[in-house]
Amino acid sequence: MLIDEALTTTRAVRRGIDLRRPVTRGVIEQCLRIAVQAPTAANRQDWRFVGIDDPGLKHTIADYYRAASTAYLERAPNTADTESARFLAQHIDRMPVLLLPCVNGRHSPSEHPARTASRYGSLYPAVWSFMLAARSRGLATAFTTVHLAYEREVADLLGIPYEEVTQGCLVPVGYARRWFGPAPRRPVTEVTNWNRWRHG
Ligand SMILES: Cc1cc2nc3c(=O)[nH]c(=O)nc-3n(C[C@H](O)[C@H](O)[C@H](O)COP(=O)(O)O)c2cc1C
Repeated sequence: MLIDEALTTTRAVRRGIDLRRPVTRGVIEQCLRIAVQAPTAANRQDWRFVGIDDPGLKHTIADYYRAASTAYLERAPNTADTESARFLAQHIDRMPVLLLPCVNGRHSPSEHPARTASRYGSLYPAVWSFMLAARSRGLATAFTTVHLAYEREVADLLGIPYEEVTQGCLVPVGYARRWFGPAPRRPVTEVTNWNRWRHG
């Protein structure tokens, strides 16, 4: 797959995931081998990944995910994206694999913004690379953060030392039943400034 095609067709896929087709640990690890080529601050490579394919654990995480997303989904406007997000909330325990990308060190809201940027910025490029590598293997994903309202509970469930490790997101993974094309986006001219800030 050409890189531009992968970059423009890697969508948040939720309803389009085949819930019945299993995903092997082998293919997840293949995608992770590509993902860890992504950059990290000072090349620290402090990312850690937890793959979750145990039905009982997925079930408990789904309860937290639903608890965290209910209020936000009730307030959200009725768009195709919200409908799709609702589907994910209802069925996340049936997603073949949940990938939980983490980074060593505990994020604190009081830390300097540069520290926060460095921490999350050393994880998210790898997550996006994982999603692209998955896309090129016929696997669909969605980047989600809503479960982080229950980060501590999920840490306890999975034996993650909460004070030492920050969870970054949660990525459901499964084979795609269908693909999507490039999404409509704001024009680049509307979101780009040269030399001086002119519009927000
Ligand atoms: C930082 C971030 C947090 C997100 N959190 C959630 C989430 O908790 N649940 C969800 O269903 N989707 C989540 N998404 C997916 C977005 O809704 C989705 O990427 C966006 O609507 C654009 O759709 P597209 O990726 O298909 O272009 C998140 C995406 C990002 C980048």
